[in-house]
Amino acid sequence: MINSIFKTDPSKIECINSIYQMSDMPDKVLDSEDDCYIGYEEIGEGYSGITRLTLPPDAVECSKLIAEYVKDGILLDLACGDGAYTVPCAKLGMKVIGGDISNKMMSLLIERAEKNNVSLDKVMLCRMNALDIPINDESIDCVIANSVLHLISHPEKVVDEIYRVLKKDGVFICFDDAPGRGAYGGNQYYDATGEIYRRYWEYLGKIGIKEKKYSWKFDRNGYCETKFSKEEKLISWNHKHVEKVEDIFLPRLSSRGFSAQTTVPEKEHKEALQYALEAADKRFGEGWRRFSISFTQGDIVATVFTK
Ligand SMILES: C[S@@+](CC[C@H](N)C(=O)[O-])C[C@H]1O[C@@H](n2cnc3c(N)ncnc32)[C@H](O)[C@@H]1O
Repeated sequence: MINSIFKTDPSKIECINSIYQMSDMPDKVLDSEDDCYIGYEEIGEGYSGITRLTLPPDAVECSKLIAEYVKDGILLDLACGDGAYTVPCAKLGMKVIGGDISNKMMSLLIERAEKNNVSLDKVMLCRMNALDIPINDESIDCVIANSVLHLISHPEKVVDEIYRVLKKDGVFICFDDAPGRGAYGGNQYYDATGEIYRRYWEYLGKIGIKEKKYSWKFDRNGYCETKFSKEEKLISWNHKHVEKVEDIFLPRLSSRGFSAQTTVPEKEHKEALQYALEAADKRFGEGWRRFSISFTQGDIVATVFTK
């Protein structure tokens, strides 16, 4: 990796367990008049459930499109987390900077790569804050920042940072499901997960604890269009998928892996979980953990913003 693209030479920066410590900001900032964000240091393994060590098939598909833009340049996977995208991109031989505020999440990324025999030789992992990317202007060919803007109180500042670090003609690629294309089935799954989630927050609401959400309604495209030119590409895809309540939803909720749970203290979390699980037992009887959703994941929309 070219050290000169960083604001500070990485050789002068502490590197712990193969992660360069490029920010000393806290893992999360929840109640500041300035910028707030929810880093996943405490969430860690709870986030991906049984898919933690797999290469997610949708991300594998997206990585092929990313490769077409990155070519032999550099990809920044901003808020790379446990590597759902970084690892498939590394597998295709791309040079990647994986940046996240959570060392724990990036340690899981390393585990995911090892498990799948993917070399991280061309990957540089950096603890960084997306609000203050430690990279010089116009240095990067492609940025992805999947599933993070909603966790930040001023996501437009992250978009500004992405714009700043991109080279002229560099691209910021966002991936979303194409609405209405998958054939979905699994009412029991939705009934059970809906009931559990509702009951969990019902219990906490009574003692004054609310879901923590920042920018779930951020108009990403609207804001990006003020800076970039926009093009949509459809990745056609037809992937059959079955998921049980106990696969991802339950481990994530149980380990406070939903970002909205970030302010729930351990004791109250356990009480609320017990309350919600008892409610599910009562309403659905034994076996709700294995209620499943089966769907054919449809096309993915890649929105390519060019600087
Ligand atoms: C929902 S996960 C998404 C991870 C990955 N991009 C994916 O698609 O699986 C959100 C990630 O954003 C990270 N994050 C939150 N706020 C951040 C910030 N200000 N700077 C860098 N990373 C941040 C969290 O630590 C977490 O790993």
